[in-house]
Amino acid sequence: MRPGNERYGRTAGGPRSPDRAAVVAGLGAAVPQTVVTNDDLAGVLDTDDAWIRRRTGIRQRRAIATGQATSDLAVEAARNALASAGTADAGAVVLATSTPDQLCPATAPNVASRIGLGPVPAFDVQAVCTGFVYALASGAGLISLGVVDSVLVIGADTFSTILDPEDRATRVVFGDGAGAVLLRAGSRTEPGALLDFSLGSDGSSVDLIGMGAGGSRQWSTGLPAKAEDTYFSMRGQAVFKQAVSRMAESAQDIAARTGWAVEEVDSFVFHQANSRILAAVARQLGVPVERFRTNIADLGNTVAASIPLALADATAEGELTPGQKVVLTGFGGGLTWGSTAVVWPGLEPLRTELSTEAGDFLPKYR
Ligand code: COA
Repeated sequence: MRPGNERYGRTAGGPRSPDRAAVVAGLGAAVPQTVVTNDDLAGVLDTDDAWIRRRTGIRQRRAIATGQATSDLAVEAARNALASAGTADAGAVVLATSTPDQLCPATAPNVASRIGLGPVPAFDVQAVCTGFVYALASGAGLISLGVVDSVLVIGADTFSTILDPEDRATRVVFGDGAGAVLLRAGSRTEPGALLDFSLGSDGSSVDLIGMGAGGSRQWSTGLPAKAEDTYFSMRGQAVFKQAVSRMAESAQDIAARTGWAVEEVDSFVFHQANSRILAAVARQLGVPVERFRTNIADLGNTVAASIPLALADATAEGELTPGQKVVLTGFGGGLTWGSTAVVWPGLEPLRTELSTEAGDFLPKYR
């Protein structure tokens, strides 16, 4: 190994212990200062606070300001995860996002450089609301193989930038935010070790969630995109049904792979899509809904950020405590889904707010 490579969390190569695992060592979160309440949206759309609360469980969400980008939130959450772990270093950055700063190149290298990590490997993972679980699997793989000794795994999205200003079904649901964990090399028997993964996809349902424009399919036509294709859209009811069945199956599968009975799981930290989805999954799994950790009322659906933000809030509120058996499960566009299992470690999460200008929350017409 070249001198100085330790600085970047690189390893020397060579055989690894079969016990080697990725261990959650730090947890950070960041949300924009601007709060968008249901009443704010009712002022510009045909909707109302009672409908939104009843159908989604959401009271408010956050939104970045004009000129800000996903990386601004990702940098802040990543710094918080590093500080929470008591280090300034990470050997790689894996960023889950489907609202990157630009289509090309990836956003992760810019985040790594702004945090001051040096020439570490850095790449984006695109699995929409499952992105954070897929990114955890990627980071855990880098550590298990011995490529690096630590990985910053970030989930960050700014869906306020891709919502149709006139679409009440999506604008009430989504919010902006970022969450991050620092994974370090450790042993499978330690609290915080990611014990296994269960991952899946079904590309035949590609049309349920997504954005038509902005890719090779549209550009190869040589024609400008239709305005409606430049916004995110989803078929809410079909997505709802898929979300319930896929997440329930995924949680059952990860429990079985880990050797846990579903009933002995203390906390379920699922993608925060809709509080009715969480209640339906709890019914399908036959566990009390009180074991589902949720912050959707305050943040809405923050896409790839939702699981780490829920982890940070539940830990700060004392709902996630050391020694608990925890299942993390995501579901999103693609379709994609996935789970991991962890015995919760002792952690002090850090959450900060990205400064924004009050009132600047309206998605822009293209
Ligand atoms: N305010 C008031 N009415 C609304 C509304 C809003 N914000 N959004 C939709 N409606 C209306 C619809 O227009 C429809 O009216 P109609 O019956 O006159 O046609 C009615 O409410 C019912 O629409 P529907 O789509 O069946 O509502 P829903 O109960 O399924 O709730 C979602 C809509 C989007 C909240 C819900 O489907 C959902 O949460 N889906 C999953 C979303 C998700 O998880 N996405 C991310 C995937 S990871």
